[in-house]
Amino acid sequence: MNEQQENKPLISLQNVTKTYGEKTVVDDLSLDISEGEFVTILGESGCGKSTLLKIINGLITPESGSVSVNGQKIATPAPAESKLVKLRRDIGYAVQGSVLFPHLDVAQNIGFVLTLDKKSKPEIAEAVERARKIAGVEKELLTRLPGQLSGGQAQRVGIARSIAARPKLLLMDEPFGAVDEITRRSLQDELSRIVKQEALTCLFVTHDTAEALKLGSKVLILKTGKIEQYDTPEKITQQPATPYVNTLVNR
Ligand SMILES: Nc1ncnc2c1ncn2[C@@H]1O[C@H](COP(=O)(O)OP(=O)(O)O)[C@@H](O)[C@H]1O
Ligand SMILES: [Mg+2]
Repeated sequence: MNEQQENKPLISLQNVTKTYGEKTVVDDLSLDISEGEFVTILGESGCGKSTLLKIINGLITPESGSVSVNGQKIATPAPAESKLVKLRRDIGYAVQGSVLFPHLDVAQNIGFVLTLDKKSKPEIAEAVERARKIAGVEKELLTRLPGQLSGGQAQRVGIARSIAARPKLLLMDEPFGAVDEITRRSLQDELSRIVKQEALTCLFVTHDTAEALKLGSKVLILKTGKIEQYDTPEKITQQPATPYVNTLVNR
């Protein structure tokens, strides 16, 4: 890879602003994310984390600014839903929804995106098996319904579902919020391993400082829709850019 290719961002936001009524939720935000980066987006409740993720996902269109993923512009003007679906497939997005489909068994949940893509049964079975192994879902669970899983098991199934179609980009919004501390730690370790192993680019929203510093190759700290600091966990803890960052990471 030459230097230019290496430095080309996978995701690029230029002067993006999103408002709701009088409230500016994302405020003239510019950001480049390189391929292979594990970016944790950290900030207190209401600072715009989910909105930012939805803008990158194309679910929300900002009033101004531009967003491109893999060199393709995705916002302003808003793409039609069909075009958006195609774009997501081309890029290979996966959005971690915390809820599994309750009426589908684990295997059907994991293979869901491939079913939408009208893949053949053997292809789906192979992809489900691969994702199941990577995410550490026990084989016996494949025929269970989500209601018959523990919180940790359900999260693993969710991860397996997100990676089944071999995405390039994984977007996760507070995926481990609802599980106990021990399970949460093991899911964090698993996710780190999977992202490395599959060479994914990952955007992971959390309001938990320890989680953000542990998982991120870079941490993006947001406050009222603006970037306070975007840097490695080491830089952020050792050289906090603002008093806000300092209280957040070094209290
Ligand atoms: N659809 C909406 N309509 C009006 N306000 C919204 C909407 N979605 C989010 N907001 C507001 O935008 C701000 C940022 O929301 P959000 O991105 O969900 O924050 P976070 O994920 O960091 O908690 C909050 O003040 C929230 O109330
Ligand atoms: Mg949120």
